[in-house]
Amino acid sequence: MKATRIVLLPGDGIGPEVIDATVDVLNVVARRYEFELELERRPIGGTAVDSHGTPLPDETRDACLAADAALLGAVGGPKWDLEPGPRRPEAGLLSLRQALGAFANLRPSFVPDALVEASPLRSDRVRGVDLLVVRELIGGIYYGKPRGRDEVGAFDTMRYSEPEVERIAHVAFQWARRRRGKVTSVDKANVLECSRLWRETVKRVHAQYPDVALDHLYVDNAAMQFVSDPQRFDVVLTGNLFGDILSDLSATLPGSLGLLPSACMGGMTPLFEPVHGSAPDIAGKGVANPIGCILSAAMLLETLDFEEEAAAVRRAVAGALDDGFRTKDLARGAETAVSTAAMVDAIIERI
Ligand code: NAD
Ligand code: IPM
Ligand code: MN
Repeated sequence: MKATRIVLLPGDGIGPEVIDATVDVLNVVARRYEFELELERRPIGGTAVDSHGTPLPDETRDACLAADAALLGAVGGPKWDLEPGPRRPEAGLLSLRQALGAFANLRPSFVPDALVEASPLRSDRVRGVDLLVVRELIGGIYYGKPRGRDEVGAFDTMRYSEPEVERIAHVAFQWARRRRGKVTSVDKANVLECSRLWRETVKRVHAQYPDVALDHLYVDNAAMQFVSDPQRFDVVLTGNLFGDILSDLSATLPGSLGLLPSACMGGMTPLFEPVHGSAPDIAGKGVANPIGCILSAAMLLETLDFEEEAAAVRRAVAGALDDGFRTKDLARGAETAVSTAAMVDAIIERI
């Protein structure tokens, strides 16, 4: 059988730490389930600015385009914060998503039973929470032109076309069919013209999915309800900027940003990345939670039709949490925190 080719993009800060952890897990899965993995590392982000003078070297982009999937750690950090816009590490990731045409960002957040008590929110509010943010990823204010500075100040442009909204709406409705049959579309249609187009378009696409329930929330109200009534959400469909904010907010439900995985789909090569960033405050200490990246690898395996393998990884993660393994971000009260390496060992033992 042909080897599965995965490009690893460790990036900056804790990126290489969570990628190394995930590679250990992937290698064990490949041995256990007898398939061949070809893993190649490529530079991106601040590390690539240092080595290649650009946050997305052509060779990195081309390697991703030629692979079956790509897995990113994280990019960014204080060292590069004063770089001009196009040389910032984050610009490398934005260019890669665009080059891949990865318009659909799937960001699940769920609260495993073992973490109900770890949540900063009341346990009766978070028990059983299982939602999926479907975030439009290569449009909106992140990419709109013009942007820049003038004599008065600075400006960015939020722009969405109907086809851009239509295609992401289809993704959300299709996921709702595989889940609990409900889409909540989040916008700011009381203020923004882009959001009025968003809402009209989502309603029109919904006509093709009469079996799926649809409601609409303004983003400020949605943020409030993510905290006060998270169990009401199934699929949350939203634009690039609102999806970025709401997905970090959804991490407070299980209790740590370090847990959340994501998939960037819809284009050429699918790209998988934990939702968190490079966490400069804990980088290099061996304490980062690797689960967001490991569960991103589970999404990768599932996307490449290694369904049994993906399920084994998810079960192993749940098992380690059930058995009380907690990295520092998850440890509460008298619980002792384990290192990244110890968490990985606990997961691997359960595969
Ligand atoms: P961050 O996500 O890096 O960190 C936010 C907080 O969460 C920090 O306290 C951090 O310690 C904690 N945290 C994050 N991941 C963790 C993990 N795996 N285990 C334990 N704790 C974890 O966000 P930030 O501090 O706002 O940004 C830092 C840098 O990362 C910036 O340069 C930002 O642009 C970049 N960033 C990159 C990505 C990405 O590459 N996909 C995503 C978000 C932010
Ligand atoms: C994320 C990050 C990125 C985003 C940045 C680093 C460009 O915050 O993946 O959530 O805003 O999309
Ligand atoms: Mn973000």
